[in-house]
Amino acid sequence: MPAWGRREVLGATGVAVCGAALAGCAGADGSAAAIVPPGIKGKVIAKKADVPVGGGKVINEWKIVITQPTSGVFKAFTANCPHKGCSVGRPEDGVMTCPCHGSEFALDSGKCLKGPAKAPLAEFPLKVEGDGIVIL
Ligand code: FES
Repeated sequence: MPAWGRREVLGATGVAVCGAALAGCAGADGSAAAIVPPGIKGKVIAKKADVPVGGGKVINEWKIVITQPTSGVFKAFTANCPHKGCSVGRPEDGVMTCPCHGSEFALDSGKCLKGPAKAPLAEFPLKVEGDGIVIL
């Protein structure tokens, strides 16, 4: 039997759970594109230095998560979990985890890795401007 770690086991299981759910009822739990909160387009909402590689930062004021899956690559997602709307926790260990029921999402795409959520976190476009991160 292969010596799998916790993350590999959960990831393999989670993909099956999320994938199966999507095939059966895509969009049933809020998979529509999220709307950028009003008033933040064009504003610096985080500093690059505040977003760790392989992790991220939740900006509670705007309900947005900024991640840095690999060095120099930044992503922005809604922090609202598509399952029941809780705010995902601070990204770490390569995933964003919802504290309410344990759904996990990929740092680089927002893809659902483990349910009960059935949809990904909606992504917002951004740009890096100097040392700041700007939502477009
Ligand atoms: Fe996030 Fe249920 S609200 S997993």
